[in-house]
Amino acid sequence: MAIVGNGSRTSIPEVLYVASNTEEGNVWSGLYKKTLAERQQILAQEKGLDASDIALLNKDGPLPLAAADTISENVIGTFALPFSIAPNFIVNGKEYVVPMVIEEPSVVAAASHGAKMARASGGFKAQYSGSVMTGQIQLVKVKNISDVSKKLEADKAAILAEADSNAGHIKPYGGGVVGMQTRSVMTSQGLMLLVEFNINVADAMGANAVNTILEKMAPGLEQRTGGEARLRILTNLCLGRIVSASATWKKEELGGEAGVEAILDAWALAMADPFRRATHHKGIMNGMDAVAIATGNDWRAVEAGAHAYGAFKNASITTYKKTPSGDLEGKIILPLAVGTVGGSLKANPCAALGQKILGAKTSGELAMVMASVGLAQNLAALRALSSEGIQKGHMRLHARHIAAKAGASEKEIDEVVKRMEAANAVTEASAASALKEIRGRKE
Ligand code: HMG
Repeated sequence: MAIVGNGSRTSIPEVLYVASNTEEGNVWSGLYKKTLAERQQILAQEKGLDASDIALLNKDGPLPLAAADTISENVIGTFALPFSIAPNFIVNGKEYVVPMVIEEPSVVAAASHGAKMARASGGFKAQYSGSVMTGQIQLVKVKNISDVSKKLEADKAAILAEADSNAGHIKPYGGGVVGMQTRSVMTSQGLMLLVEFNINVADAMGANAVNTILEKMAPGLEQRTGGEARLRILTNLCLGRIVSASATWKKEELGGEAGVEAILDAWALAMADPFRRATHHKGIMNGMDAVAIATGNDWRAVEAGAHAYGAFKNASITTYKKTPSGDLEGKIILPLAVGTVGGSLKANPCAALGQKILGAKTSGELAMVMASVGLAQNLAALRALSSEGIQKGHMRLHARHIAAKAGASEKEIDEVVKRMEAANAVTEASAASALKEIRGRKE
């Protein structure tokens, strides 16, 4: 393969890229060793990208290309999403403006709405268990697991001290190894021993901190158990890192007694039926993921923990009940591993900005706000679903996008949306016709 030319980042025609499936067999092999510009050239050649596509990839946004190239592999550009804020959140008496990054219309509006309706009762009260993550070392081929486990339990103090001596990277932040347990699990490959370490990761998300300690501990545990260590990895079902948030919504905000009953009916279905629960949880994660992204956190880990917890409990992660005065009290509880410090936060200036806007000082504070967002999101969705239906609010906000797509300027968008709603048709054709009418009227 050869790349000849001036390497210009914006203009494909200036670059003579010679694809060489024939030379090396696979043009994608070793892609990661190329420069970002070379990757773009290969992609352009193979997928027919033109100069305008490359210009789009090269548009430096708040995350500079050079920084993006150090965060992931095979980077060809950056990919922007709307960066929004949700006001109205009071959590443990403190006001928050919550940063959210999401492409789906009506999520930010719904979170703000759910939070606004909770203000009359003082907002959200939240609790955090502390930042204890659990990591697993899988040991196979251990003979007499029961005796070996007893021996490990007897030597626990020494093993814990050794594990903690490998926790130097989190010690300065108040972290360290705080516990250990052994479990045996019957699998299709036979009985296996798990040695699990509980590690306080302080204000980090903690995956790297945990995995580093596990990898250091594995060889010694092989010697102690006579087994072979396989996986050495944290679990996202982090039961030592549980957050909860609760709030009360006045019945007047929810359509009175009937509104409260309708929301309870909606929630009861999520408790009873896994098919409904999946979507119920999806709605909660709409909000929590958006905050995770905006603050540079690993939203896949957040998702994994939440869904695993729901499956583990065979229940919704939110619960609702009527208060004696007929208002609605809601609560969310889930494992949540998010951080306010760590490499990815430093690497992405947008994530640092998200953290600055939120102003959470610790991972616990961040987790408590995120749980509140999840609960607000769930309440707003259940209220809409059990009354006018989700499409009304959702489509009203989607209508703005359709109006803009039809060519409406910022000043014209609201009027076009109003006309589409009046015509009960949120479509590009309806937007175009509304636009024509408005512009005709002005002329
Ligand atoms: P509304 O009653 O028409 O709102 O609700 P409002 O005009 O009375 O405004 C109340 C507050 O909502 C506002 O306060 C804002 O905070 C917020 P104010 O600023 O006036 O002091 N708000 C907005 N924020 C930003 N942009 C807006 C906006 N409008 C209101 N345009 C609303 C309108 C859309 C909020 C309501 O219908 C709602 O909450 N709907 C739920 C929408 C939703 O849940 N969307 C998520 C996507 S659907 C989904 O995928 C999840 C789902 O499947 C989950 C599940 O099944 O459980 C539904």
